[in-house]
Amino acid sequence: MAQTTTYVEAPDTVAARPPASARLDAARYTSSEFMRLEWERMWTRTWLLAGLELDLREPGDFFVFNIGPESILITRTRAGEVAAHYNVCQHRGNRLTTEARGCVKAVTCPYHGWSYDLDGRLRAVPDADRFSQGIDRDALSLKAVKVELWAGLVWVNMDPEASPLADFLEPVRDRLLPYHFERMWLAKDQTVRLDANWKTAVDNFNEQYHVDFLHPQHASFVDCCNAANLLFAGGHRGVEVEGYVVNPRYPIPDELPPLLRGSIAPLGMDPADFRGRVTDLRRAVQKRKREIGARLGYDYSGFTDDQLSDVWQYDLFPNVIMTIQPEELWIMRPRPHPTDPDRCFFDKWTLRAPVHGQAGGTDIALGTGDKPAATSVRPTREEFDQDDVIAGKYSMTITIDQDIHYLRQMQAGMHSRGFTRAFLNDDESRVQHFHDWLDAALGGD
Ligand code: FES
Ligand SMILES: [Fe+2]
Repeated sequence: MAQTTTYVEAPDTVAARPPASARLDAARYTSSEFMRLEWERMWTRTWLLAGLELDLREPGDFFVFNIGPESILITRTRAGEVAAHYNVCQHRGNRLTTEARGCVKAVTCPYHGWSYDLDGRLRAVPDADRFSQGIDRDALSLKAVKVELWAGLVWVNMDPEASPLADFLEPVRDRLLPYHFERMWLAKDQTVRLDANWKTAVDNFNEQYHVDFLHPQHASFVDCCNAANLLFAGGHRGVEVEGYVVNPRYPIPDELPPLLRGSIAPLGMDPADFRGRVTDLRRAVQKRKREIGARLGYDYSGFTDDQLSDVWQYDLFPNVIMTIQPEELWIMRPRPHPTDPDRCFFDKWTLRAPVHGQAGGTDIALGTGDKPAATSVRPTREEFDQDDVIAGKYSMTITIDQDIHYLRQMQAGMHSRGFTRAFLNDDESRVQHFHDWLDAALGGD
């Protein structure tokens, strides 16, 4: 009984694996100098998940992606394309919008009224004749950012020379295709302001070592002790955990624990059938989902048996954490603070697979395939502080709340004169892998 780690060989298009040499010194998480290096060499040169395509359904729809000191405006143009530009007016540098999302006919600066088309082209300047030097509309149009779509997700890259998104995703893309993220609808949109470096949050999701201690409830529905850790080129990571099982470190109970009893109820399964044979449940759930998936409204045809029962977490470099099941996807995304290495913003989107034939019109598809019903309402983003979670005013689910409790203490500890650097075990291989690729992005020094 042990976790495993496998390095998945890279396709030829992807850079070779860096040496496992990153040292997790405290300053990596606390210093402004390291934060500056990350900004100049990593954030501004890599593909970043900017948002969800469901926010760009119609021409004029836009959303803003704030990352560190930068703000990027993403629009659906009149021609139906998705465009990304720096959210900054070319007159005197005002932010064009402070709204998180919306729908506009044109992008108009609130300061002096310069107006840009949805594709970034400068279209109107008040008192244009008072610019006696002339107005060069090409030079004064919004500054573009590379943008690409994949699986209902909108990605941007601030490096004009960046290689295509497909190259970036290649090491993991095929494993994620069966889930059809682009068909999912948004159930919850949350952001918590954390007193922790963005990497303190990433590290938390990159090891199962803390699960037995911090998340005791997991012992009654997943097996983290035998997690399969996967390392991919490009710094991506995965971990596959068996679901509908109990933690084999403890005596196997005679009856299904309450969490498992609750989770099989929607499948019409009887907990009494598993008295004395709790370990048979996982295979039985796989079989049952195949049998009645269509009746429940789910399309399970593209999944392996393991995918039907298990929880996968796939993490894309640098800051995307995805917890994936056929019916539900969480995308979590810690974003660096503009100036403070001790703070970050932690986003969580909860997405659900469509249930065919479901009554009601509240489902919003993630991609552009099915249009939502006219009554569809996108959930508004809940924004709150770490203290609101600790006080129980907001929740990102029990598990994430438990993690959030500790992140501030982790960050504080790294400022201590009594701490030098992290000391990792074999099961924290994903933490090491992430930092090795981060070091490679930073140039190794
Ligand atoms: S700064 Fe935008 S119009 Fe003047
Ligand atoms: Fe955790």
